[in-house]
Amino acid sequence: MLILGIDTSCDDTSAGVMRDGREVLANVVHSQIALHHRHGGVVPELASREHLKNLIPVVEEALKTAGVDFHDLDALAVTQGPGLVGSLLVGLYYAKALALALKIPLIAVNHLEAHLLSIFLEPEVPPFPYVALTVSGGHTQLYHVRGYGDYTLLGQTVDDAAGEAFDKVAKIFGLGYPGGRVIEGLARSGDARAIRFPRAWMGKDSLNFSFSGLKTAVLLQHRRWIETPEAERTLSLADLAAAFQEAVVDVLVQKTLAAVERTGVSAAAVAGGVACNGHLRARMSATAKEEKGIAVFYPRPAYCTDNGAMIALTGYRRFLKGETAGLDVDARSKFPMGDLMGVRPMNCMDREIRVR
Ligand code: KG4
Ligand code: ZN
Repeated sequence: MLILGIDTSCDDTSAGVMRDGREVLANVVHSQIALHHRHGGVVPELASREHLKNLIPVVEEALKTAGVDFHDLDALAVTQGPGLVGSLLVGLYYAKALALALKIPLIAVNHLEAHLLSIFLEPEVPPFPYVALTVSGGHTQLYHVRGYGDYTLLGQTVDDAAGEAFDKVAKIFGLGYPGGRVIEGLARSGDARAIRFPRAWMGKDSLNFSFSGLKTAVLLQHRRWIETPEAERTLSLADLAAAFQEAVVDVLVQKTLAAVERTGVSAAAVAGGVACNGHLRARMSATAKEEKGIAVFYPRPAYCTDNGAMIALTGYRRFLKGETAGLDVDARSKFPMGDLMGVRPMNCMDREIRVR
């Protein structure tokens, strides 16, 4: 079964082709980073226009790479949400038109579930049940994953996402957008112990996250740093970056391991753009092995950030459950995973919700 997956949820235009939910035949991503860089963040209006310009070439390139034709496709999977509505609409309406023209099923995919399942694009996968941490520019969530489509949300951020914190700190430092990779690079030459930034633990048993206080602490410290004459500075900008990254990584590692402890699972996986971070991977794997004797699984960086292959894979899994979308399906800027399969969203702060 050949599925084309399309994602235009934010600032990447991507298309992936998968065979039988196992083999990635193509994964093409057109990044808009260069465009948004000078604005210090994604400009929604510009993002939609770029998707309009790039979607057809990206899809054509994906099909060419996969060595298939439009008429070989058996189904079309597309991100329905969450994301920027103007951006989502470009992918969704293109997919609707294509599905109608080719007379093949359309599958609406939740972008969060796609990040969660992206680990299954890899040859080595965690055994069910396991704990998954999804950390991207828009989300920071911990799930108990029992099977495809069978998840419990254990905790999530109450304010900024981890990737958003990286992006905001990079902006404060004047390093442009997106921030994750730049901050990680800068942190390599810094001393993480030169200064200690606060960690928000959110109560003894909470698996929720908060990164807005940390961001403010970095902002205030950076202001002081700027105001201090260069000759009198005891910290470098790299020290600030390393100490910030350490604070984020500390919380992500400790909360993930607390989730492992609570659920009694024997594996964990980390996905989403922030999972590209080498320091996070190293600390997470070492601590999980040392303290819990468990392995942690990561998708390769190209599958951590937004990509069409993870949409095709998730579409395949949804298709197997008989879930296809009508042509009246609409984009959803907010799309909690609790909304999958008609489950009503609940106030899930500090509470487990079951998603089937
Ligand atoms: O998953 P993704 O491509 O898009 C969303 O769905 O948000 O994630 C992008 C986020 C950005 O916030 C970016 O700064 C962050 O992932 N990111 C990183 C790294 N690479 C990307 N954060 C920390 N370290 C990295 N190496
Ligand atoms: Zn994403």
